[in-house]
Amino acid sequence: MVFLAFLASLAVTGAPGRLIAADAPAAEVPRQGRGPGGGRGYGRGQWDDPRFIADREAYQFLLQHRDTIRRTVTPRPDGVETLTESDDPKVAGRIQEHVASMHDRVKEGRVIHMRDPLFREVFRHREQIVIEITDTEKGVRVIETSDDPHVAKLIKAHAEVVSKFIENGPAEVRRNHPVP
Ligand code: HEM
Repeated sequence: MVFLAFLASLAVTGAPGRLIAADAPAAEVPRQGRGPGGGRGYGRGQWDDPRFIADREAYQFLLQHRDTIRRTVTPRPDGVETLTESDDPKVAGRIQEHVASMHDRVKEGRVIHMRDPLFREVFRHREQIVIEITDTEKGVRVIETSDDPHVAKLIKAHAEVVSKFIENGPAEVRRNHPVP
């Protein structure tokens, strides 16, 4: 599964400007629910989604190798431009894989990490978010924007949280982040 996701990410390597768009009201997202075992559910979508396991494995790998990742976030009035890279080719590939997969999730509304209010709000407004991804030699450049000022703020807040994931690792993933 991870391999397939990796292949999928390779398939888009070098294809700049994959865009998702649309000016539309906040999208419907699955409500939070309980997992099949009656445990804590972080969104019903997650339990229906076999790709969740691969995605979790991929971001855990990134968290484990975060000391090899460097990232810059450049704010712009309508969102951010980010550059996230690693000199380790394996990590660079996983960054590309993660971003391609998260892009698909935003596009298709396959929610993840809904326990965190900020992620919940990002997915609620997914149809107002435009993401342009360019794979670089060592990672990805992402331009993420919205015409809606509230959504632009969400995009900036999310980008800062990704930087904190790199800085603080799993402890930061366990934290909730406020909606700006
Ligand atoms: C070291 C760990 C991680 C790295 C390096 C990383 C990297 C990235 C990058 C580069 C983006 C594109 C947007 C941007 O550049 O701001 C992104 C988007 C995203 N990431 Fe991660 N991420 C990490 C951990 C996580 C974790 C732990 C989760 C959730 C459990 C997550 C969920 C998402 C989602 C949902 C998006 C798409 C939403 C959006 O871009 O607005 N990431 N990540």
